[in-house]
Amino acid sequence: MDFQQELKEKVKEAEKTIYSYMPGERQLQATVIDAMDYTMSAGGKRIRPVIMRAVYDMLGGGDKLIEPFMAAIEMIHTYSLIHDDLPALDNDDYRRGRKTAHVVYGEAMAILAGDGLLNYAYETAAKAFDLIENADKDDVSAISKELETRKRVEKSLTILARNPGIYGMIGGQVADVELTGKTLTKEQLEYIYINKTGALIEAAMTIGAVLSGASDSVVDKISQTAYNIGMAFQIQDDILDETATFEELGKPIHSDKDCGKVTYVTIHGLDDACEKVKSLSEQAIETINELSCDGEFLKELVRYLISRKN
Ligand code: IPE
Ligand code: IPE
Ligand code: MG
Ligand code: MG
Ligand code: MG
Repeated sequence: MDFQQELKEKVKEAEKTIYSYMPGERQLQATVIDAMDYTMSAGGKRIRPVIMRAVYDMLGGGDKLIEPFMAAIEMIHTYSLIHDDLPALDNDDYRRGRKTAHVVYGEAMAILAGDGLLNYAYETAAKAFDLIENADKDDVSAISKELETRKRVEKSLTILARNPGIYGMIGGQVADVELTGKTLTKEQLEYIYINKTGALIEAAMTIGAVLSGASDSVVDKISQTAYNIGMAFQIQDDILDETATFEELGKPIHSDKDCGKVTYVTIHGLDDACEKVKSLSEQAIETINELSCDGEFLKELVRYLISRKN
């Protein structure tokens, strides 16, 4: 199958999974669930759940155990976008082609919708234990009920708790906010990118590896690959902030400049930034090649990310 078609199908499958895990029942808190749904259903590339599933399947996964984690990572990512767009942070009015949550629902409800998605992500990921409990032993395609499977879920939950936090995404966002308008050292810029963007991509990929039962050395290689993909992804995001149109991005262009952000592009220029995205992506592909498995889809995905227009 042609890669674009395959990607489209995998995105569709990821969305079906995500929507199946979104909250249904509404009480007096209905508005916040509407706000959560509003940003979640606006679309987005769904890169994190797709790359999580790709790593899981590449390393021999293949069953449904990954699905609660696919939904959870997209919930955490979507929460991070709702909060990132708030007036106190990047103050952006559009996201995924729609007015941002705080513009439509007000700031209080947008903050709560972010909080709601973050909490619901853990409630969702923990449903992997139910899948193990309910697995049918006689079905060869079913999830194994062995203690080892529970241990993999526990380890994945730890990654899902740590990487979005102060030693990961939040850490990166804090530095991004505090250093806005300042001259950044190479180390500071790298800290921001590895954490604000890299940490969730690393969580997605390493959870895929851990849940599949990969050895520690394979998980390390996946983590190294994720580091390069995460850096490349954020530099490409900075490039698109300068070069893409609002219609392509579905979010405001020149947001970094308007916020006074120093980015890889403002320090090194567009040409160097494009070169850097290419070389980081090549390094990621090399590491995938070192794994003895069929990494074709994952490599194509890395190549697609270099040339993405949104
Ligand atoms: C945007 O992430 C925020 C960054 C980390 C650069 P995406 O570019 O994955 O956003 P969506 O999910 O496609 O909207
Ligand atoms: C996004 O960085 C990081 C997080 C949302 C955690 P940006 O602020 O560059 O992302 P966009 O450009 O608003 O999507
Ligand atoms: Mg930001
Ligand atoms: Mg932003
Ligand atoms: Mg950006």
